[in-house]
Amino acid sequence: MNTTITKVDSYCVFGNPIEHSKSPDIHRAFASQTAQSLEYTRKLVEPDDFTIQATRFFEDGGTGANVTVPFKQDAFDFADRLTDRARIAGAVNTLAKLEDGQIIGDNTDGIGLVRDITQRLKWAIEGKRILILGAGGAVRGVLLPLLQEKPELVAIANRTKSKAEELSVIFSEYGNLQGYSYNTLPNEPFDIIINGTSAGFSGDVPPVHFGCFTSETVVYDMMYSDEPTEFLRFAIDMGVTQWSDGVGMLVGQAAESFRLWRGVEPKTQPVIDQLSEPA
Ligand code: ATR
Repeated sequence: MNTTITKVDSYCVFGNPIEHSKSPDIHRAFASQTAQSLEYTRKLVEPDDFTIQATRFFEDGGTGANVTVPFKQDAFDFADRLTDRARIAGAVNTLAKLEDGQIIGDNTDGIGLVRDITQRLKWAIEGKRILILGAGGAVRGVLLPLLQEKPELVAIANRTKSKAEELSVIFSEYGNLQGYSYNTLPNEPFDIIINGTSAGFSGDVPPVHFGCFTSETVVYDMMYSDEPTEFLRFAIDMGVTQWSDGVGMLVGQAAESFRLWRGVEPKTQPVIDQLSEPA
């Protein structure tokens, strides 16, 4: 009897915690939508174990991986080569094995955010005044693609002012940025406010001046949750009428990873709809 074993390309997402990651559902949905044959699993990584686990995964024939909190910096160090946007972001959320066996690191978070804002939500970025809250890894990862859309200004407000100022200096060659603390942030309206802090994890809301919001301000929370996030509820109380959580960014960054790995661009809207359905 002749048995042919067809090897299925193998992908995974590394993180800690990882059990609630939606990435396997998203990539399996993309695979079925585009008739691609692949497997995609979750991998819980203990602190300090990322390099060992990632090396083993690729040595065992892994084709590509997503990387989530708290290992994006480790993935940056692990990659043999980096795309420009990953290098500038200082973080990697996508790894892929190239034909020569080298591992390339990319960062698709920013493009996921920008496409969600401009294509799905149809909020223009060009010429707009943007306020971004937070100056950690999540914000750093999205600044370059955001600035490439040519906003008039990106104000970065952060609890620790020095980190906001540092980012505004690092990215100054790509656009007009200013770094602030919440106290020094001008009490003036913004067109788009993006929450990139992790304050929501502890049920907190970054203390943004009321005057930064108008009824025309659109608000995006990079966090994603079944219910409107604390920050979105705050923004709605401030009179905001157009807002979104980060589900489209989550699906969008995955779509860009999938395109890099598979060479086909999946449709995001059906998967966003699927994730947004009540459980
Ligand atoms: P991530 O990778 O999610 O960005 P991070 O690098 O730890 O995680 O950054 C978390 C961000 O959320 C930081 O900007 C942090 O502010 P500090 O730099 O001052 O620590 C911000 N943050 C966390 N909790 C917050 C809170 N309760 N209020 C305001 N900002 C908060």
